[in-house]
Amino acid sequence: MDLTLLHQPLEEVEAPLVVLVVPEDQDLPARIREPRNAHRWDSILQQLDASLGGLLLASLEGGAFRGQAEDSLLLHAVGEGGKLRRILLLGLGSPDQIDRTSIRNAAARGVRRAESLKCTELHLRLFAPATLPSEAAAEAAAEGAVLAAWDFRELRSAPSSPAAAPSPLVTTASLSLERTDAEPLPDDGVLASAIHRGSIVAEGANLARTLQQRPGNVATPEHLAGVALDLADRYGLEVEILGPREMEAEAMGALLSVARGSDQEPRLIVLRHRGEQEDARPLVLVGKGLTFDSGGISIKPAQGMEDMKFDMSGGAAVLGAMMALARLKVPIPVVGVIPASENLINGSANKPGDVVRTRAGKTVEIINTDAEGRLILADALHYAVERFNPAAVVDCATLTGACVIALGNHAAAVLGTDDALIAELREAGDLSGERCWPLPLWKPYAKQLESPVADLKNVGGRPAGAITAAHFLSHFVQDAPWAHLDIAGTAYGEAHEPWHRAGGYGFPTRLLIQWVRGRVPS
Ligand code: BES
Ligand code: MN
Ligand code: ZN
Repeated sequence: MDLTLLHQPLEEVEAPLVVLVVPEDQDLPARIREPRNAHRWDSILQQLDASLGGLLLASLEGGAFRGQAEDSLLLHAVGEGGKLRRILLLGLGSPDQIDRTSIRNAAARGVRRAESLKCTELHLRLFAPATLPSEAAAEAAAEGAVLAAWDFRELRSAPSSPAAAPSPLVTTASLSLERTDAEPLPDDGVLASAIHRGSIVAEGANLARTLQQRPGNVATPEHLAGVALDLADRYGLEVEILGPREMEAEAMGALLSVARGSDQEPRLIVLRHRGEQEDARPLVLVGKGLTFDSGGISIKPAQGMEDMKFDMSGGAAVLGAMMALARLKVPIPVVGVIPASENLINGSANKPGDVVRTRAGKTVEIINTDAEGRLILADALHYAVERFNPAAVVDCATLTGACVIALGNHAAAVLGTDDALIAELREAGDLSGERCWPLPLWKPYAKQLESPVADLKNVGGRPAGAITAAHFLSHFVQDAPWAHLDIAGTAYGEAHEPWHRAGGYGFPTRLLIQWVRGRVPS
């Protein structure tokens, strides 16, 4: 979607739908009747009302809209030359509770309403509350608009008739802010860059969603590597792709053992953003890129198995985050590492009881071939830590069903070896709306992974499955400050935020970007 700043008197905006996003206020009619001097937004609404022949005031006086969280009111008026004007009011809720998420979601609701009205263009005017600085508000609104405009339609054939066609997507939007407090608005350049940053972040998440949505026969490990090569080309990232021979040379026995069960070759993708401070120790993002998880010999039930195309969601998020970080030109070095493989069942597939040797030299007894994510991540983490000597490593993976049982669909689990890092990720989660919540990585749980024949088992039984999975990973990160996000419950689903579509959510692309940005010294 093309999104630009447009700060023009509302009555002059030409868009076929004008969306006003307003905080809750019991006095809206009074503000329009007699604007109070301190509040510029009163007179802005009054002028708009005058251009609508009093329609706005008359509608608000009925009490149909007060700006409460789910409030909305659509007004139709006839403008100059008989042109239809549509004004949509959307509520933000109580002013002291408005945060980035309320604004992101309100902007998304505006875009989706435009979509259902078959308007491919809209104007959004956000009346920013005292709780949020203008730049943060503009960025969140831009993010919500661009996230909401996305859909995955590349695998549908052309509709047989116009009646069968889905609503066209919103392709063009403009956005601006008014303040509801006495803060002055920043100048246009500042607002336009905030809008641009919000768009870049959302486009990163949308790239991840597109990759998530692509099925296993399209988004193969080789396909993900192709996407990485293309990103490198377009945004000036460095890229390296390891295939099976390079993995042999790197002694990645765990990753290779999973990949050998499939005809598709594995890839280890490394994308590198140098940044101005190229000599600083990099941040490393590792994402599980399991392009289809059948479970292997320990096969999954058929019901819902199609969703296991989403087992590359961590890898997709790292690709989306790397694209955005390069475009944002963050000054610090960041490396993305994605082990990509299928987990299938041929004559060479892992068998329960097999023992494999990891790159770290530790041997693993494979109790269950469906616990494959931790095997491919073990080698990727060990490689990344040894090669890049990172300031911090964060991995994200659709790793365990146990995480879904523990936290459901509204928070990822975060576990790791560094409490400060975990606190940073929780903060980034709150700001981005991609929240995570800690589970304890306490030592007694580690005992569940003891094997009678090898250094470790790959599963620790049913109790605390998300914790024992993280414990397994912790054996491969040496002394690096490390945290793990289990995104099994948050990466995809049936849509529960206004900007979601059923399918991939791009989670935790925006969390990762927010975390990296928070690490930039100010
Ligand atoms: N990819 C799955 C985890 C998963 C489950 C993701 C549900 C999304 C939704 C992972 O590879 C897996 O199969 N984990 C097993 C581990 C078990 C065998 C110890 C699980 O959680 O059942
Ligand atoms: Mn599995
Ligand atoms: Zn898996």
